Amino acid sequence: MPDAEVICELVNYWAERGRMLHRSLESVYESLRDFLVCQRDGRVVGCAALSIYWKDLGELRSLAVAADYAGRHVGQELLLQAIEQARTLGLARIFALTYEPKFFQKLGFRPVDKADLPSKVWRDCIRCPRADACDEVAMLLELS
Ligand SMILES: CC(C)(COP(=O)(O)OP(=O)(O)OC[C@H]1O[C@@H](n2cnc3c(N)ncnc32)[C@H](O)[C@@H]1OP(=O)(O)O)[C@@H](O)C(=O)NCCC(=O)NCCS
Repeated sequence: MPDAEVICELVNYWAERGRMLHRSLESVYESLRDFLVCQRDGRVVGCAALSIYWKDLGELRSLAVAADYAGRHVGQELLLQAIEQARTLGLARIFALTYEPKFFQKLGFRPVDKADLPSKVWRDCIRCPRADACDEVAMLLELS
């Protein structure tokens, strides 16, 4: 529970710079059990959430690393932990919508057409303010 506010700050720091979508504190609390955090030097310097989308599909969301910890493999470690969790849960695939496809590509994700993610489109995208002009790239990792 004490990490919720810093998670919200990390995400919104990057959202204000156009790098990801904003999240309200309410939405962070709603999905707090999905979140991993990375602590360094006694503070939370990164977060990521793995949400279960469908029986075989997970989504990696809200991956954010504090600017002063960039490039120290915090993001990679969070992503690897989330992938491990997904395997443990028995998910077959994880996707992410991102402006940083190359970062995801380094860990085996490949770009896919958003139309290949129908449940995502119907469940979240129709409520997104950028639904008609979405410029995020869909990246998918097959776990099986
Ligand atoms: C993208 C982000 C999570 C990367 O986190 P990070 O801790 O700085 O990255 P890491 O140090 O773990 O990088 C791991 C590797 O990916 C590379 N990498 C990181 N960001 C990259 C990028 N934008 N493009 C290409 N490669 C990148 C690193 O050089 C590193 O390579 P190496 O293993 O050869 O040294 C971070 O910059 C961030 O929070 N960005 C803003 C929010 C965001 O875009 N989130 C993405 C998903 S919504």
